[in-house]
Amino acid sequence: MKKRVAILISGRGSNMMALVEAARAPDYPAEMVLVISNRPDAPGLQRARSAGIKAMAIDHKAYATREAFDAAVEAALVGHHIELVCQAGFMRIQSSALATRWLGRQLNIHPSLLPSFKGLHPQKQALDAGVRISGCTVHFVTPELDAGPIIAQAAVPVLADDTPETLAERILLAEHRLYPFALRLVASGTARLEGGRVVRKEGVNQADFLYSPMA
Ligand code: GAR
Repeated sequence: MKKRVAILISGRGSNMMALVEAARAPDYPAEMVLVISNRPDAPGLQRARSAGIKAMAIDHKAYATREAFDAAVEAALVGHHIELVCQAGFMRIQSSALATRWLGRQLNIHPSLLPSFKGLHPQKQALDAGVRISGCTVHFVTPELDAGPIIAQAAVPVLADDTPETLAERILLAEHRLYPFALRLVASGTARLEGGRVVRKEGVNQADFLYSPMA
């Protein structure tokens, strides 16, 4: 049985489309059934609809509190019998109630090698720090921002003439490979959250959990 997945977005939704495309493979263990954007003008909403996925806006500005907005998101997830949630460029901090309710069942992708460069503008943070390698991380969502247990990471080189934009572009290409890979691990039960850590099923090649820098 394929896991029923909802994707939370705020913008263009290129990671969302990478998940949608991966899920077209007959043996992929998850199906994308719902896209929710907190911004009604997110271009990703139309892209999802064009791909045949139900997409809805839940405008955070229409809710007086974070908790009220999260309750509306929760109602949509429950109403669609969602089993796993993927945050993909979703730029809202969740209340700890919602993050805790979906603990072990909600993933996020972040464009840095966590725990380095949490929060906003991680590519600029990487350049300012002078690191030679950066990348992206898929982790389980916990109440603490960008701090949940890590499922998989991909590393990319930082080049001498990089700007935040060129680095973001290189990381984004890795994100599009990493997110479908990490969701497959979780949806198939190969990786799961247990006691605050990601536990991998025995017999899985450990090297499969990291993509190395591209030339
Ligand atoms: C991606 O780079 C994603 O990792 C990042 O926003 C971009 C969304 O692009 N997310 C965060 O920074 C979350 N803290 P997309 O809408 O094309 O997937």
